[in-house]
Amino acid sequence: MKDFRNKVAVVTGAASGIGFGIAERCAHEGMKVVLAGINQENLIRAEKALKHTNATMLCVQTDVSNLEDIEALARETLDAFGSVHLLVNNAGVGTTDGSVWESTLEDWQWMMGVNLWGVIYGLRVFVPIMLSQDTECHIVNTSSLGGLLSYHPSAPYHVTKHAVVALSENLYYSLAVKKANIKVSVLCPGWVNTKIVDSERSRPADLRNKAESTPVSPEHNAIEEGFRQAIQAGMSPQEVADYVFEAIVNEQLYILTHSDHNSDVKKRVENILAQRNPL
Ligand SMILES: NC(=O)c1ccc[n+]([C@@H]2O[C@H](COP(=O)([O-])OP(=O)(O)OC[C@H]3O[C@@H](n4cnc5c(N)ncnc54)[C@H](O)[C@@H]3O)[C@@H](O)[C@H]2O)c1
Repeated sequence: MKDFRNKVAVVTGAASGIGFGIAERCAHEGMKVVLAGINQENLIRAEKALKHTNATMLCVQTDVSNLEDIEALARETLDAFGSVHLLVNNAGVGTTDGSVWESTLEDWQWMMGVNLWGVIYGLRVFVPIMLSQDTECHIVNTSSLGGLLSYHPSAPYHVTKHAVVALSENLYYSLAVKKANIKVSVLCPGWVNTKIVDSERSRPADLRNKAESTPVSPEHNAIEEGFRQAIQAGMSPQEVADYVFEAIVNEQLYILTHSDHNSDVKKRVENILAQRNPL
């Protein structure tokens, strides 16, 4: 897709961070923008912040881990604008620690629900709509460098982000075989200056950890502080949006925004091919 004017974009997790950066760029490109996210007040605040672009916008409160919410998001989008051309499955959450066995079941369910089921639902609902439109379309799924590497401390985060890379690659092949007019990108950024370290703010009450299951230790505090600092020093969401739009124009599947980590990805692939242990 090279011409964005008057096309319709749906962005999940659009109230802040990378989602907001992409929604802002969509608005500047003259697209009609559907801002989807879990908190309506934050969506309206984001819409206000984008008023100056004069873009036509629609806020739809959406919990991406809930299929009915995604179905309603699609319905409201079509009712308002008649079609959809760009879907950005971006909403995601993370924790700063937790091995496979130390992460609680609630951690697993929450991250699997938002980061993985959210993308699966988005694709199951929107791909058939795009196929039936038979217009030029593009889908961007937000994964992470954590979807290409595995040393991030949070096991559920890694697992979901690797799955989003696999989902995107699989979708790419399926659509290519079908000769569909839908292109796919998977966004794999390193540190970006967003609110991701405060993901707990959107964790549903029934999936909150009990205080005794997450004892606070000096090590935990040090990891969290390190994360906060890395995020604060990270790339701006606007710069990430530039990479995303360049990839859409170039019909590029993989979007790697932090080239200083390319050697880590290369080393992982070389280790796999040489059947060599990482440590
Ligand atoms: N910030 C980084 O360093 C970084 C790096 C790699 C990948 N990512 C990915 O980028 C994406 C966006 O995160 P961000 O960094 O902008 O953080 P962020 O916290 O600023 O934005 C995440 C957005 O998702 C929304 N959200 C959370 N749960 C939701 C749900 N159930 N349904 C709908 N919306 C929900 C939040 O309200 C928020 O607006 C995530 O998928 C994240 O994993 C971030």
